[in-house]
Amino acid sequence: MDISNKPIGFFDSGVGGLSVLKKSIELLPNEDFIYLGDSKNAPYGVKSVEEVRKLSFQAVEFLLQYNVKAIVVACNTATSAAIEQLRKEYKNIPIIGIEPALKPAVELNKRGTIVIMATTMTLSEKKFNRLMNKYKDKANIVPLPCPGLVELIEKGVLQGSEVNQFLKDKFSILDKDEIASVVLGCTHYPFIKNELSNVLNKDVIIIDGSDGTSAQLKRQLKRNKMINLKGEKGAVHIYNTLDDKEVLDISYKLLGI
Ligand code: DGL
Repeated sequence: MDISNKPIGFFDSGVGGLSVLKKSIELLPNEDFIYLGDSKNAPYGVKSVEEVRKLSFQAVEFLLQYNVKAIVVACNTATSAAIEQLRKEYKNIPIIGIEPALKPAVELNKRGTIVIMATTMTLSEKKFNRLMNKYKDKANIVPLPCPGLVELIEKGVLQGSEVNQFLKDKFSILDKDEIASVVLGCTHYPFIKNELSNVLNKDVIIIDGSDGTSAQLKRQLKRNKMINLKGEKGAVHIYNTLDDKEVLDISYKLLGI
């Protein structure tokens, strides 16, 4: 089989990575995609690095069964815990990760604080701290760990009083008038963007990393001469480690298909 006709694999701790998949489908409509949500083990953000690494290897092994030509780690937490080890182990396949989109936030050059919402693990890992050090002299950056938010999104609760109250409580420690932008450093969070806008001042810019990751996926496919040129709309298959129809229903709804 021509390698360009093979599918692209995605995985996340649950339904969050669908926010990245959605962007990738828009950018690469002819590709076939296989998505694995590990909702049985969500959230990853409060587990140990070793556990998340182990789960990431399991997810990659699952995707490889489907003969995928590239893998997107559509999870900031798994990227920080495992991307280096995965790339070392699976040298023959492009593996694309995601990290909080701090660079575009700094480049906005907007006066005020840049808030990074992410899981506790993402914000405490080496990868993020390297990123933070790179930009710390250029902007006032405030990491905001949000344990508990992924659980709501996994249940399909994306708006309403529960999410609103959660976000209000989180942002109550900050001066709202000082916030220039908010970086969504977890792939689950784009799904609560509407409710987040209700909590922040109107002029705050909300940035998510899925555009950058999807663009990087496209560059890698091109570089490796793997772009699918068949010219027809690709297929999307979603799998979940939870043997539960509800989570698949939520997944297809989030993806809008
Ligand atoms: N979607 C995830 C991320 O981007 C992981 C959230 C979690 O499972 O804690 O970090």
